[in-house]
Amino acid sequence: MKKLVALVLAMMLVLGVGASASALTVAFSQIGQESDWRTANTDDLKSAITTEGWNLVYDDAQQKQENQIKALRNFISQGVDYILFTGVVTTGWDEVLKEVNDSGIPLILIDRMPDCADKITYAAAFGGDFVEEGRRMGYWAGNYLKSVGRDQEQINAVRLEGTTGATAATERTQGMDEALKDFPNIKIVASQTGNFTRAEGQAVMESFLKSQPDIDMLFAENDDMALGAIAAIKAAGKVPGKDIIIIGCDSVKAAFEAIVAGEMNATIECTPLYSKFVVSCIKDLEAGKTFGKEVQHPEEFAYDATGGIAYTADGSKTTLKAADVINDRKY
Ligand code: AHR
Repeated sequence: MKKLVALVLAMMLVLGVGASASALTVAFSQIGQESDWRTANTDDLKSAITTEGWNLVYDDAQQKQENQIKALRNFISQGVDYILFTGVVTTGWDEVLKEVNDSGIPLILIDRMPDCADKITYAAAFGGDFVEEGRRMGYWAGNYLKSVGRDQEQINAVRLEGTTGATAATERTQGMDEALKDFPNIKIVASQTGNFTRAEGQAVMESFLKSQPDIDMLFAENDDMALGAIAAIKAAGKVPGKDIIIIGCDSVKAAFEAIVAGEMNATIECTPLYSKFVVSCIKDLEAGKTFGKEVQHPEEFAYDATGGIAYTADGSKTTLKAADVINDRKY
């Protein structure tokens, strides 16, 4: 009997039965490293995959779509077990994602969704609700102005948009414009891309400060651009957070620090931490479970200096105080 058990175990080892999860190879096509958010997103996924004992094939596309297309084709020829994908821009993925589908490798979409999502097959999708994040930026601004008695005042706002053509940028812009219809005293007087980076956020804010004589408010579609803009505002002799109200998006630790220092006013959360969803999704897929096409959004909050400012259309969600959570924020 003992000999039979040993023989069966040996055969299982040779055939790889029961060892599939530990032998997985997970490939990840990342956009680049443009922001603190992106660094946290990369670290989170890389470390979770290796902690599981899975092999990681990682590619940093350095913000270039052609690099991502090349990486996806490499993943296919390597015959990886899973592909994690977020696209630097929304369009232009139809052909390569069809090739991924033809290879039979399960595709997991994270963060930014491609516009061809309804035409391709994917195993699951996890990402932020960017339209809602944009709306929240607008609602926070309008409700904050009310709370300080400035809701009848004409407010000149400038906007730093994210990377042109990225869903995170176009959808945040869309949501913000939608919300601001409820606050006609806030007028966007200039809006330009800062490419989601501190350096470009700073440069574009410098030019806004030269071309716009009277800026009361800044909407930055990510915290990095807000932080770059703070440097530009200081250099122009103005006081960030006071002369110019600054609203960012992401809720990275550096933004909490700026809020606590009084140099920034609010940040709307967009979590970079997808590893817990992705790891359990892969395990579920290995066990034969399937997921629908719906994008799963994590629960997200908003933070400011005082707490208690409503940031949703129905007023049901109010801000948390950045100072209360800063020590728990890891990125
Ligand atoms: O796609 C998510 C966005 O991309 C984050 O808001 C931004 O910081 C990042 O670069």
